[in-house]
Amino acid sequence: MFNIIGGFNNLDCSDLNIREKLFFLLGRLDEYAAYHFATEEEYFLSHGYPDSEDHIHEHHYYIDTCQLLYRDCYKCKSKEDYQVFIGRMESFLIRWWFHHISEKDVEYASFIKNKK
Ligand SMILES: [Fe+2]
Repeated sequence: MFNIIGGFNNLDCSDLNIREKLFFLLGRLDEYAAYHFATEEEYFLSHGYPDSEDHIHEHHYYIDTCQLLYRDCYKCKSKEDYQVFIGRMESFLIRWWFHHISEKDVEYASFIKNKK
C-alpha cells in the first residue's frame, strides 16, 4: 500500500498518459483489496474475531470508494481535473493508511496474536 501511495505522489498531471497511469494504480488498489481483505476475513471467521462486522464494513467502504474513483477518473478532462482527482485519491489513501491499516488491522492482529 505504501508503494501505491508513492505512485500517486509521483504522477505528473501534464503527462499525456496520465489516465492510463491512474487506471494502473487503481488496478493495484483492487489487487491489494482482493488479496488482503479475503485473507483478513478468513482469519476473522476462523478465530471468531468479535469486531469482524465493523471491520468488514470498512472493507466494503474501501471497495465502494474505489469504484467511485474509477468512475470519476473517466470524467477527468484537463490537467486541473487530474490534480483535483489525485488530491482526492491521496486523501482517501492517507486516511485509509492511518485509520484502517494502522488502527483496525493492528487491533485484529493483536487479538489473534493474544489468542495463540
Ligand atoms: Fe482490514
